[in-house]
Amino acid sequence: MMKKTLLITGGAGFIGSHVVRLFVNKYPDYHIVNLDKLTYAGNLANLKDVEDKPNYEFVKADIVDSEAMLNLFQQRQFDAVIHLAAESHVDRSISNPTEFVFANVIGTVNLLNAARAAWKDHSEGKLFYHISTDEVYGSLGEEGLFTETTGYDPHSPYSASKASSDHFVRAYHDTFGLPALVSNCSNNYGSFQFPEKLIPLFINNIRNNKALPVYGKGENIRDWLWVEDHARAIDVIFHQGKVGETYNIGGHNEWTNIDLIKLMCAIMDRKLGREAGTSEKLISYVKDRAGHDLRYAIDSTKLQKELGWVPSLQFEEGLEKTIDWYLENEAWLHGVTSGDYQKYYEEQYQKR
Ligand code: NAD
Ligand code: TYD
Repeated sequence: MMKKTLLITGGAGFIGSHVVRLFVNKYPDYHIVNLDKLTYAGNLANLKDVEDKPNYEFVKADIVDSEAMLNLFQQRQFDAVIHLAAESHVDRSISNPTEFVFANVIGTVNLLNAARAAWKDHSEGKLFYHISTDEVYGSLGEEGLFTETTGYDPHSPYSASKASSDHFVRAYHDTFGLPALVSNCSNNYGSFQFPEKLIPLFINNIRNNKALPVYGKGENIRDWLWVEDHARAIDVIFHQGKVGETYNIGGHNEWTNIDLIKLMCAIMDRKLGREAGTSEKLISYVKDRAGHDLRYAIDSTKLQKELGWVPSLQFEEGLEKTIDWYLENEAWLHGVTSGDYQKYYEEQYQKR
C-alpha cells in the first residue's frame, strides 16, 4: 500500500464520519486529515473511536475561507481530496438559501482553486473526488431511474447548490485538467445522522411520543442506502474509479415516506414494548415542503458492473440496526440536540 496524505472535508458530519472511520481503520499507511468547520451538523463525538489513531488528524477550518484553503494546500502535500463538506438539509436551504451558496458553491470552488494551485505542475496520481447527491437530477415520475447521463434539473436551493458545485468540479477537469471525479448518491440512513433528517428525527420523536410531521400526503418516494454501503462505494470509486467519470450510487430500495414511517412505527412498538399500532397514532400530516420532489431512484448499474460494488444490507435489517443504534446512543442524541436544535425545531415545525 502506497503512503498517501488524504484530505477528507466534512468528516465530522454523518457520511463523512463513516468515510473517515473506514479509511483510518482500513488504510493505516494513509494519513487522513479531516477538515471540518463543525457547524451544527458536525460533531467530533461521531469520531471518538478513531481520534487517537496515529494516522488521523483533525483540522478545524471553513472551506469558504479561500486564503485558509490556499495556505493549507501549500503547507500540506495532499495526494487526494474527498470532498463531503456541505450544508445538506433541504428544509434549511428553503429557510436560508444563501448559506448554501457559500458553503456548497464557493466552498467547493475554493477547494478546487487550492488543489489546482498545489498540483499545478505535478497533478499525475492526484485526485479531487467530489461527493454529490441524486437530488441534482430533479424529480422522477412513476417510471424510470436516474443514470449518469440524466440531465440536471434541481428544484431546491440545496440541490441547485450541489448541482452548481458538480458543474464546477467537471469544468475544472475539462478546462484545467484537474484530476477529478464525481459520485451522486441516493438518500443515506444509519448511525450518527443529525436528527433533522427523516429517519433519525422520526426515531427520536417516536421514542419521545412526539408528533410525526409527515409532509403532504407522505407519497414522496426516496431510494434509501445504508451509510456504510455508501462509504464502501466511496472507497471503491476512490481507488478504482476513472478520472473524469461520474458514478451513481443507490440502494435499489424505493419507499414511499408513509410506508417507511409505518414500518419504523411497527419496529419501534416492538422494541419499546408498546402495543402494536401505538406509535402510528403519532402520525400528523402537515403542510407539504415547497418544491417537494416526488421521487428519486438511482440506477447504479455502472458502479456495479465496472467496479463490482453492491449494497451489503437488506433495508429491513439496516433499519433495525439503525433504530437499535439510536436507542442505545441516547447520550449522543442528547448532545447534538441540545443548544440551537430546539430553536430550529420550533421554527421549522410551528409554521406548518
Ligand atoms: P452533514 O450535514 O451531516 O455533514 C456535513 C459536514 O460538513 C458537517 O460536519 C459540517 O460541519 C461540515 N461543513 C459544512 N459547512 C462547512 C464549511 N463551510 N467548511 C467546512 N466544513 C463544513 O451532511 P451528510 O449527510 O454527511 O452529507 C455529506 C455530503 O454527502 C454532502 O456533500 C451531501 O451533499 C452529500 N450527500 C448526502 C446524502 C444524504 O443522504 N445525507 C446523500 C447523497 C449525498
Ligand atoms: P429528508 O430526510 O429531509 O431528505 P431529502 O429531502 O433530502 O430526501 O426527507 C426525506 C423525505 O421525508 C422527503 O420526502 C421529505 C420527508 N420529510 C417529512 O415528511 N417530514 C419531515 O419532518 C422531514 C424532515 C422529511
